[in-house]
Amino acid sequence: MYPANQPSRDVPVFPAAGSDSTASSRFARSRIHAACPLGYNASKKLIECPCHSSRFFADPASGKVGAVEHPPANAPLLRWQTTAQTAGGGTTLTIDLKQTVLFNCEMLPAVDATKQLTLPFADFPQLMMVGGVVCGQPTGLGNPIIVTRLDASTVIAVDSKCTHLGCTVGWNAQNQDFECPCHGSTFGSDGHVQVGPATTPLKSYAVSVTTDSVVVTIP
Ligand code: FES
Repeated sequence: MYPANQPSRDVPVFPAAGSDSTASSRFARSRIHAACPLGYNASKKLIECPCHSSRFFADPASGKVGAVEHPPANAPLLRWQTTAQTAGGGTTLTIDLKQTVLFNCEMLPAVDATKQLTLPFADFPQLMMVGGVVCGQPTGLGNPIIVTRLDASTVIAVDSKCTHLGCTVGWNAQNQDFECPCHGSTFGSDGHVQVGPATTPLKSYAVSVTTDSVVVTIP
């Protein structure tokens, strides 16, 4: 296992597998489920929790670095952009803590003419589980959104852009809050500011849950 490093605040990170030297996702946050420190299993190319056996993908070839490979964790690890520069016989790896890489933060279905984004459970089964998270960018919307199921009947959706200086926040399933990796702002599950320097809530969206999908209204 790689030793954990601690580049900022209380956010230990460690390198994930892979040999890519371009902007990538080599570092993963080690605080999901019950907040035990994680380690890297080099033979399986998995990030593993020794406490409750949660596992996360770590092989870039999987295309799923940070995603849950085995529960009980039901939310992905946060990742940050990294760049590697080689000079003078050595390589320097730089972690950009302003650039959170959200798992599954890709294009989501388009917002329809009634300004609704429909996320079918068939395509996003994690939204059926309490604590399940979807991060993604609806077609036509500027920022990624984060959709999270809080309990059997409550699903929330917020804009992932921190209202302080615009870094991307992530959902902390353990603390049930949104956290910004840049300057430490935290936001409650409805987007309100818990800890500054941010002073303005995250933009939140109305959500309804049907028998087969989650519907987010994006005005
Ligand atoms: S950008 Fe989020 S706390 Fe500063």
